[in-house]
Amino acid sequence: MCGIVGYIGHRSAQEVLLRGLSKLEYRGYDSAGISVYNEGDLQVQKVLGRLVALEQHIQTPLIGGQGIGHTRWATHGRPSDDNAHPHSDCSGRFVVVHNGIIENYQALREELTSMGHRFQSQTDTEVVAHLVEELYAGDLFTTVIQVIARLEGAFALGIMAKEEPGKLIAVRKASPLVIGLGDGENFIASDIPAILEYTRETYILDDGEMAVITKDGVDLFTFAGVPISKDVFHVTWDAVSAEKGGFDHFMLKEITEQPTAIRDTLTSRISPDGSRITLNEINLTDEVANTIDRIHIVACGTSYHAGLVGKAAIENLTRIPVNVEIASEYRYCEPIVTDKTLVIVISQSGETADTLAAMREAKSRGCARVIAITNVVGSSIAREADDVILTLAGPEISVASTKAYTTQLICLYLLAGHLAQVRHSEGANLIPDIAQALRALPEQAEQVLQTSAMIEKFARTYAAAKEDCFFIGRGLDYAVALEGALKLKEISYIHAEAYAAGELKHGALALIVEGIPVIALVTQDKLYEKTVSNIVEVKARDAYVLALAWEGDAEIHKHADEVITIPRTLPFLAPVLAVIPQQLLAYYASVARGNDVDKPRNLAKSVTVE
Ligand code: G6P
Repeated sequence: MCGIVGYIGHRSAQEVLLRGLSKLEYRGYDSAGISVYNEGDLQVQKVLGRLVALEQHIQTPLIGGQGIGHTRWATHGRPSDDNAHPHSDCSGRFVVVHNGIIENYQALREELTSMGHRFQSQTDTEVVAHLVEELYAGDLFTTVIQVIARLEGAFALGIMAKEEPGKLIAVRKASPLVIGLGDGENFIASDIPAILEYTRETYILDDGEMAVITKDGVDLFTFAGVPISKDVFHVTWDAVSAEKGGFDHFMLKEITEQPTAIRDTLTSRISPDGSRITLNEINLTDEVANTIDRIHIVACGTSYHAGLVGKAAIENLTRIPVNVEIASEYRYCEPIVTDKTLVIVISQSGETADTLAAMREAKSRGCARVIAITNVVGSSIAREADDVILTLAGPEISVASTKAYTTQLICLYLLAGHLAQVRHSEGANLIPDIAQALRALPEQAEQVLQTSAMIEKFARTYAAAKEDCFFIGRGLDYAVALEGALKLKEISYIHAEAYAAGELKHGALALIVEGIPVIALVTQDKLYEKTVSNIVEVKARDAYVLALAWEGDAEIHKHADEVITIPRTLPFLAPVLAVIPQQLLAYYASVARGNDVDKPRNLAKSVTVE
């Protein structure tokens, strides 16, 4: 995720761009830059760090009423001055800002380099500037049409040409872009808050649409250059709710973003024919991969819960034994680590003190390699690990982690597949089926989000009034139940416990009394009958059971009071879908109780102290 702003009109472009970008820092903040056109010159200022670093960096204000700006969340190329946007071609005739991922950038870069283009950055975006330069024949609009026909992936773009002052081109495919309509001025932005100060009249571009923008007008086209018309969308939100994309809370926005986050995290990590996992960012040699005899997964909180699912995935596909450890325990337990131990650390923020210390402990004990799964490029954990697999979830603002968890799961499945491939494990034969099922997940997650109203009703009318709640499941259902219980306790403050369903009778059954809510997960086919028996046990004690089950499971309705279904996938991928209703349950229970959903009491997003 990154933020784009563009302006053309009578004001100082620099001021509009910087003010707009300040509203988009939630989309990324590792570097920022602007380009302003003035008297035949495309001036560019860009720098590593937050927007305030850019403001300090610009010593002499850039004069001009036309420009584009960007705040970055690195995906390709570490955060640096050179990798910050805007990007230019060889001669500085064109400037480009981009949000998204150009999947075929490597092939385009090689092609353009062989034609003599010189690249300044490691980004995927820079190929766009050079392609424009290569194809330009005097008309930016027709050139951009040719350029986007060569691009694969996701891209919202803002483009300007030195030879065509007074014109901005905006393009949207799979990454958001809005156009703000003013009087003698117009705007582009990744999100409405960036322009709300100036206008409430907008065009929301759809996928496959582009615009030519001058100060006096906006012309809209398809990618084929066919003119189109659109309704003006009048924004009624206030500034605060606009930052949340119209959602009441960041948490709900982030839950809703999961289909996109999953799609982005999968992007370019499966071969086009779906036969192989292509985790090119991992430099684990075949030799090392083949000598690994155990794996430690180390993390805290929600990331630890993702690790529990990762254990099942890795053991399933590779048969390498995996231990999942809480980082604050691992760092002091004198872990048994050898040069055949692979350590996987998982951290959304990449800054959690215990996880960082645990990673250093494993390194000092001579582990074979550390692979980090994190959401933040350039974070301490990302810098110190040997390899980094990025979750491409975009910044997560709400303290309760949601989209980071689901994308961590995706990375763990990919890593499990990658290890199976390099070790030629039997599990590698399953990769085509797994790849197909992974690719279906974004749409299926979208379907699960449709159950929101049912869950809201259950949360409001039932769960929110209770003081205790149980989550039960077996196998992977237990792993994801732990995350469901954590979500509920951290934001609704309802005491919630997850139990391995078969373990209930060894203690927790004593707490099951009339009316107590029990969330029962039944997605693991091999364990179905066993879990149903446990549901029967709690029903016999008059618990109120909400089951999370597969679509089409008629049997479960006989045992549960309410049923929420998820679409069929491979049972070992079920956690990605099964966690969503639980996130929604926690969210709506918290809202019903009047809690501060995004900032729950006593908790912090990033725990950088021990
Ligand atoms: C805090 C957050 C949790 C998170 C945990 C680990 O407790 O509130 O949401 O799961 O830290 O954070 P990390 O950034 O390492 O994943």
